[in-house]
Amino acid sequence: MEVNKAVIPAAGYGTRFLPASKAIPKEMLPIVDKPTIQYVVEEAVAAGIEEVLLITSKGKESIENHFDFDMELEAVLEEKEKEDLLERVRYVSDLISIHTVRQKEQKGLGHAVACAKTFVGDDPFAVLLGDDVMYSDKPVIGQLIEHAEKTGCPVIGCQEVAREEISKYGSVQHSDRSGRRARVTNLIEKPAPEEAPSTLAVLGRYVLTPDIFPILAETPRGVGGEIQLTDALKTLADKRPLEAYKFKARRYDVGQLQGFLEATVEYALRREDVKADFHEYLQQLLTERGG
Ligand code: UTP
Repeated sequence: MEVNKAVIPAAGYGTRFLPASKAIPKEMLPIVDKPTIQYVVEEAVAAGIEEVLLITSKGKESIENHFDFDMELEAVLEEKEKEDLLERVRYVSDLISIHTVRQKEQKGLGHAVACAKTFVGDDPFAVLLGDDVMYSDKPVIGQLIEHAEKTGCPVIGCQEVAREEISKYGSVQHSDRSGRRARVTNLIEKPAPEEAPSTLAVLGRYVLTPDIFPILAETPRGVGGEIQLTDALKTLADKRPLEAYKFKARRYDVGQLQGFLEATVEYALRREDVKADFHEYLQQLLTERGG
């Protein structure tokens, strides 16, 4: 199995980020000075992905513009001899070949992935959600692709979460666990903590095969009235071996406020040009507040 294509669903309403996400897609909210979606695209590129399909919706045109050439802006930067900024702007538009398709009605993540059917064709493909930003030595989607190539199976990216947190995610029932992997036997989307089969949570990265599409087409609406990818994967697990892989990364749940703030502070502290002053500021702030 060789994985060269990635699908990035970004059509959701982003209601947890209102009012910020009313006129700006939540994927365009910056972590330090880069939109969240750029971190996700960079992860795909670092894993060797060659083509990306963005699933978008009305009002998300700024995501496409972000990855497109902007001749006018480049000309202005060139004229003003702002070489450094020009390089940064060009880097984004040169990153990778990006295609888009619109999800006309936001019927859920499963429905969004189904919109990628034509782009995917007969190839295996990666799925990356913008809600989870990953900091790791090796790109998380690359870790999953490696496991998919080794086993020939579709793979779900997972990490352990606290039991009281599992109701935000899909919970993985599994068998035959060894090292970082396990065989998926069942999946439950957003279970009550006491009903979750495990605290192994599905966290926004997948390697899938085209046999998911006929299943998605038949999957009824589930939790929240949405067509859930987790429900389709549960059906897939009944038909063929499906692997869960516990990836290695610091994960930020940037779809909610706490995760977004943590990512902002930690990414700023990792930036060579920002970290010294920002660290000093944080220390001073804590001292003033008696922390
Ligand atoms: P979320 O439920 O986390 O995103 O979906 P959301 O709906 O945008 O956010 P809230 O819950 O209203 O705050 C996970 C991912 O699936 C995409 C979202 O864009 C996000 O990347 N998604 C969700 C779609 O592309 N289409 C949908 O119909 C639903």
